[in-house]
Amino acid sequence: MRGKFITMEGIDGAGKSTHVPYVRELVAARSGAVALMTREPGGTPLGERLRELLLHEAMAPSTEALLMFAARREHLESVIWPALDRGEWVVCDRFTDATIAYQGGGRGIPLSRLAALEAWTHPGFQPDLTLLFDVPVAVGAVRLARHGALDKFESEQAAFHERVRGAYVARAAQNPARFRTIDSTQPVADVRAAIKRVIDAL
Ligand code: TYD
Repeated sequence: MRGKFITMEGIDGAGKSTHVPYVRELVAARSGAVALMTREPGGTPLGERLRELLLHEAMAPSTEALLMFAARREHLESVIWPALDRGEWVVCDRFTDATIAYQGGGRGIPLSRLAALEAWTHPGFQPDLTLLFDVPVAVGAVRLARHGALDKFESEQAAFHERVRGAYVARAAQNPARFRTIDSTQPVADVRAAIKRVIDAL
């Protein structure tokens, strides 16, 4: 049986990273299958090299979007699709919804253009479940400030992050069957309880 593909999304500072190990643990326990944890951009040797460039080098917005999808196709072909075919479950820290949110909402690339790249990169393939960790931008900014060194996206202005959040919320509204929005302003224990309810239901 084919495994399931679960993605985790949210603005920078939403607390997604805090919950990655818990989601993996839960998926492994509840699915009874191997649970593979991976991330985007990245997840392959080539993807990790592209991640370095994407997170730290200035580039045109279109270049950024194209490199995100290039890294994604490599990730799908060499890691995600083979694992799902073996019956493993894959949890991915960010996927195409992040491109819609950051390069679409944040950078202003027309969604029709991103939709064409999405259809080229993974025709007919979408996550089975997407956890959207949602916090107001001001809350995310406070959490980021505790991090220290910020990457290219984390260093963007509040208005950029507002557009990213808005694009995520719109994408979730358009895809209610696969999105589950989790109020990530709650204490960690409450967020975990919400994650558990969603994974149990899957
Ligand atoms: P992030 O997932 O927040 O990792 P960390 O928790 O280690 O900081 O960092 C990835 C960054 O890349 C994040 O700011 C969003 C950005 N990104 C895009 O802009 N588009 C994409 O398609 C993806 C996958 C990520």
